[in-house]
Amino acid sequence: MANVSWTRRMRRAGLVALVACSLAVTAGCGDKAEEKTDTGGQGGGTEQVSLGFSQVGSESSWRVANTKSVQDSAVSAGIALDFQDGKQQQENQITAIRGFVQKKVDVIAFSPIVESGWDAVLQEAKDAKIPVILTDRAIDTTDTSLYRTLLGSDFVAEGRKAGQWLVDRYRGRQDDIKIVQIEGTTGSAPANHRRVGFTEAIESYPHLKVIDSKDGEFTREGGERVMKTFLAKHKDIDVVYAHNDEEGLGAIDALEAAGKKPGEDVLIITVDASRGGLEALAAGKLNFVVECNPLLGPQLMDLVKKAAAGETLPTRVVTDETVFDQAKAKEVLPTRQY
Ligand code: AHR
Repeated sequence: MANVSWTRRMRRAGLVALVACSLAVTAGCGDKAEEKTDTGGQGGGTEQVSLGFSQVGSESSWRVANTKSVQDSAVSAGIALDFQDGKQQQENQITAIRGFVQKKVDVIAFSPIVESGWDAVLQEAKDAKIPVILTDRAIDTTDTSLYRTLLGSDFVAEGRKAGQWLVDRYRGRQDDIKIVQIEGTTGSAPANHRRVGFTEAIESYPHLKVIDSKDGEFTREGGERVMKTFLAKHKDIDVVYAHNDEEGLGAIDALEAAGKKPGEDVLIITVDASRGGLEALAAGKLNFVVECNPLLGPQLMDLVKKAAAGETLPTRVVTDETVFDQAKAKEVLPTRQY
């Protein structure tokens, strides 16, 4: 039903825009903010802003919470959302963005699965004068005019917080501490930046040694698979640094299957602070969790409305985040939303 009314609305909006465009051809039709028409949307005659959103997929509870936040906030903000699931494939996200350009949405937002390879499709959006907002993950481009803002976490800071906890935990120790790293999706901003931040924090402490690193794809299955490989390859692993909770939970599965006690025999640090992660922390199976907040929907909708109105946006909007030890996890769990 929602899709039908969306299509109708867009057809009508497209038609009115086309007529307006041909009437205004001598005046130079093309500015998205000026070209918007009354679609009869919410608010009794006010324009309903349309947003095309391309999501990465549903690899983690973080992602599921992020999707819900975007969808719920669009409804509350009265924004017509065209939501497309990229299913972990960059090609799917590129196709979705092209589709949004053809549908002439007011604003495009997306969470890029990997950092590189977006310039061509974003140039198409720019040529169509549709503002683009990056949410959650950054892209790697020299042309920053291809997007208006990036809303989301500082992943380098998250990596630094994870590394700093380790530095403090092993302060004064001289013997080698062997660390394995279960990375997020190869080429993604959180994987790249969380590795950089962590490396930065521990590099002045030569006894903290990262002995292996592998992609766990931000999933529990991936984390378990990678941890099994590490256990088969390395004796005496002291610490696991997993780039998200799911990978950390997978590492717990692998350690328990190998007869080891996660959180005691091997310390585990993760990022996200989802309910599953905090429960494992409260149970003593994880040791430290860095927060990455997925509830970006309300801020995103504010930015979308401003972009649609032609307002200037800040180039970066960073989410507020904290860290969790066992006591803090127990304290927040009863009210944790995701
Ligand atoms: O981009 C944010 C990361 O992606 C989250 O840490 C992870 O859980 C998700 O899959």
